[in-house]
Amino acid sequence: MSTTSPSSLVRSVIAAVPLLLQLVVVDAQGASSLPKIRILATGGTIAGAQAKGQDAGYKAGSFNVDDLINAVPTLKHLAVITGEQVVDIGSQDMNNEVWLQLAKRVNAALAQSDVDGVIITHGTDTMEETSYFLNLVTKSDKPVVMVGSMRPATAIGADGPANLYNGVAVATHPGAKGRGVLVLLNDEIHYAREITKTNSTQLDTFKSPNRGKAGMTNAGRVYWYDPLAAKHTSRTVFSVQGMDQLPRVEIFYAHANMGRDFIDHAVKLGVKGIVIAGVGDGNMTRVAVDGLQEAVKKGVAVVRSSRTGSGITDRNVELNDDKLGFIASIELNAQMARVLLMLGLTKTRDTDALQKLFYEY
Ligand code: DGL
Repeated sequence: MSTTSPSSLVRSVIAAVPLLLQLVVVDAQGASSLPKIRILATGGTIAGAQAKGQDAGYKAGSFNVDDLINAVPTLKHLAVITGEQVVDIGSQDMNNEVWLQLAKRVNAALAQSDVDGVIITHGTDTMEETSYFLNLVTKSDKPVVMVGSMRPATAIGADGPANLYNGVAVATHPGAKGRGVLVLLNDEIHYAREITKTNSTQLDTFKSPNRGKAGMTNAGRVYWYDPLAAKHTSRTVFSVQGMDQLPRVEIFYAHANMGRDFIDHAVKLGVKGIVIAGVGDGNMTRVAVDGLQEAVKKGVAVVRSSRTGSGITDRNVELNDDKLGFIASIELNAQMARVLLMLGLTKTRDTDALQKLFYEY
């Protein structure tokens, strides 16, 4: 007669857990009832490889989307994952054309009834700009979560797999719907509009200095904070449909002794907009102001933002924006202001209408 000891019973129950999990997630038709997540990969450090262990140097975008998915086998407990490689670049090479291509892919994926949310793997260098661009042109309330890493995939303590797992946990969480594009790194959830990269190497590089984080994750559990106040995704006036280029907008960084030669040159090159990363509250030298005032007269949209990294760049403080014809970036830093100005210029050249966008988005 066979007997079952308490310890072997425990072992059998533990052994049966994976089978039970599978039974839970497969419905009568044999289809999984787990959410369906599409991962769009673009390269970055999360897909980076060192030539040898311990190297500080590495090549971004060395692994493809399937490698990233296969590196985190537990993803299959959260979602049915499909992957697509959109581009394979370090995000320092991100450009307007790839943004348009990526935005179209995101919208196409989210329009599919068999996709419940999108994850985008991306380098952290320009993640804030890409995420804010997508936040303005994605036409869906389904979750979009951008995930990166600070350490390459081959590094000791690589952070990519945990970030990807938490990113999928966020994208499959009911609270993610309608929050706009989110960024997940280092157990923190950020709103695309709020983040900025603040440290060149540390894991806690992303901060949301003005309005704070969207939430936190803890081993796949998701905790939400306040919703985003600004308009986003399906509530914006912007669309990339049929668009194959964006108006040229350049950024100039203000500093002591700033001249106007490069501003004049940009105007000659035919830029449609100039964003100044101003000192303090969006200030710059008198000579630079003169150059920009002439630029405005020639039809160039000029936005003043701040190089300080946080705070509000408001209208008519030390400079008379009404008289000069300048636009104030309000809460956006220079790189985010460039994104909004490019999209704004696809809709209007009117200064007041452009200023209104900076209050709204
Ligand atoms: N060059 C970088 C990029 O792809 C590396 C930084 C990162 O991905 O974290 O943005």
